[in-house]
Amino acid sequence: MNMRIAAACVLAVIIPALAYAGAAQKPVLDAYAAQAKAEQAGFAGFSVERGKAFFLAKHDASAETPSCTTCHTNDPTKPGQTRAGKDVAPMAVSKTQDRFTDAEKVEKWFTRNCQSVVGRACTAQEKGDFITFMASL
Ligand code: HEC
Repeated sequence: MNMRIAAACVLAVIIPALAYAGAAQKPVLDAYAAQAKAEQAGFAGFSVERGKAFFLAKHDASAETPSCTTCHTNDPTKPGQTRAGKDVAPMAVSKTQDRFTDAEKVEKWFTRNCQSVVGRACTAQEKGDFITFMASL
């Protein structure tokens, strides 16, 4: 295969992968990637699959909120509900385009929800994986 065709093939794979992450979410994701690199030597990028598994997992920290799905439901393209019955807009970026675009808001809710659901702060990799999953839907 000549070099030009090889390069075109590589771009054909890379460009959809970039579009997929959601351009508006990129600054927030880039900041978490930088943090993840600092936290773990072998960091090799975020993963939709890990983000999905984390979102669906049952944790042991709280009987009332064992999972992110308790409020955000099993289907992030659907609206969720707080425990007080207030609506929460879908987490999927395709449904709520301004999700994960305001770094301060994102941190505020990760801090609150990771603590109550998982019983500790989430790592930068967990946060990036979560956003990458939501941006893939
Ligand atoms: C007790 C209910 C509840 C649980 C459980 C919960 N959340 Fe949330 N979450 C909310 C509410 C309420 C908001 C803010 C309202 C909104 O953004 O629509 C929110 C917002 C967020 C945001 C901000 C999104 C943005 O627009 O930038 C993130 C990130 C988030 N949650 C992550 C998580 C993760 C990760 C888990 C599981 C570890 C989780 N949440 C579990 C209720 C919950």
